Amino acid sequence: MAGELWEGRFAGGPSEALQALNDSFPFDRRMFRQDIAGSRAHVAMLADVGLLTDAERDEILAALDVVEAEMAEGRFEAVASDEDIHTAVERRVTEIAPDAGGKIHTARSRNDQVALDVRMWTRAELLDLAGLVLDFQDIVLNHARTVGDAHLPGYTHLQQAQSVSLSHHLLAHGWALSRDVSRMFDCLERLDVSPLGAGALAGSSLPIEPSQTAAALGFARPFDNSLDAVSDRDYVAETLFLTSLLGVHLSRIGEELILWASTEFGFVSLDDAFSTGSSMMPQKKNPDIAELARGKAGRLVGNLTGFLTTLKGLPLTYNKDMQEDKEPLFDSCDTIRLTLLALSGMVETITFETDAMAAQADNPYSAATDLAEFLVRSGMPFRSAHGVVGELVRRALAGEAPLTELVAAHPELGPDAAALLEPGASVAQRTSPGAGSAAAVVPQLSAFADRLATDRGLLERARVEPTL
Ligand code: ARG
Repeated sequence: MAGELWEGRFAGGPSEALQALNDSFPFDRRMFRQDIAGSRAHVAMLADVGLLTDAERDEILAALDVVEAEMAEGRFEAVASDEDIHTAVERRVTEIAPDAGGKIHTARSRNDQVALDVRMWTRAELLDLAGLVLDFQDIVLNHARTVGDAHLPGYTHLQQAQSVSLSHHLLAHGWALSRDVSRMFDCLERLDVSPLGAGALAGSSLPIEPSQTAAALGFARPFDNSLDAVSDRDYVAETLFLTSLLGVHLSRIGEELILWASTEFGFVSLDDAFSTGSSMMPQKKNPDIAELARGKAGRLVGNLTGFLTTLKGLPLTYNKDMQEDKEPLFDSCDTIRLTLLALSGMVETITFETDAMAAQADNPYSAATDLAEFLVRSGMPFRSAHGVVGELVRRALAGEAPLTELVAAHPELGPDAAALLEPGASVAQRTSPGAGSAAAVVPQLSAFADRLATDRGLLERARVEPTL
């Protein structure tokens, strides 16, 4: 019978409309492993504190094994009253073990259960996603190591600014991704609190041990405050934010790849396996993955703002509004996973057209700042040097003579300064710490590789295997 969890209090069953709106089983069933792990820890604790006999505990554990296998193998038969994953598991356990099963929900509520399941699901997901970001960073590092001193224009306002080495440009994206990984670790640390034992909101009069279930499920500690334990969804909001910002980073990479793959830029060629064609125009090769990386960011940000709006103004403690946490969470994690995998493949198989990059980067005007710095080296204040070079650029653009000739003929610049306009010369000059020459990038490559190794180590240590 529908609604059997609370049938004692109700004379009639729920309406169809209520069930259709209220049921979360269609989407929260994907947390079945977390739900069952939580139940295993809970019944083990109940037996240890004397609320279950060992025989009752073992009967429930055996039933949980059956339910887990049914769910894993797609054999689980849902009934109308399976409102959510917690209800479904308890209903089936009680069918298999009628007497002991009636005790599984002792000193427990779906409110602490759902908080536990979502935390555990998010924990596993963040660890996985961090690994995927690190894999993508490895691809970026590998390119940065192998492109040598290839250089391209650096842009501000999407106008050619100063040329930079390609490895420098690639590593810039790599560092942004490092901050994404670090945000995942931060979130994992705050998430590392078990809410099990908070009950519906206020704990229990029974002698339960939340620290025991916390340890069994691989959490660093149990909750401090039962009201907070069932109300807190910060980890969902944080995950929606960190996937949004990661998505924004991927969208910026995507946007550059779209530009770079255009005929006008021609800075990269895409591998056939990671590009698409046109149904009508035979010549087309489209960067759909990069465009979707750009487009999916909107959806990720939408999930974040939607969920923050859901949480805003909710009174303590659990409110059914909070059931709206799971769909955006699952969607954002699935979306960022697919995007990371596809974009990683696209970047891994890309060909950098370094001649086309150099042809643009060696545009003499890109060396204007280096010419001004040449004058600074001989003692001229930078503001005056800026004026001198600016005037030469204006005269060259007006058609008086090529910039190189004007520079060579200028009394304070001359042939040594004109040599800065040779292909690749100006970028090689920029050797200040963290700058864009290939030489300045050498220590950056090793710093980035060290960072990746550190993050891999942290990830290994963060992986938790619940003991149940
Ligand atoms: N399906 C619910 C959710 O996802 C579980 C908690 C329900 N608790 C309750 N008291 N109705 O949030």
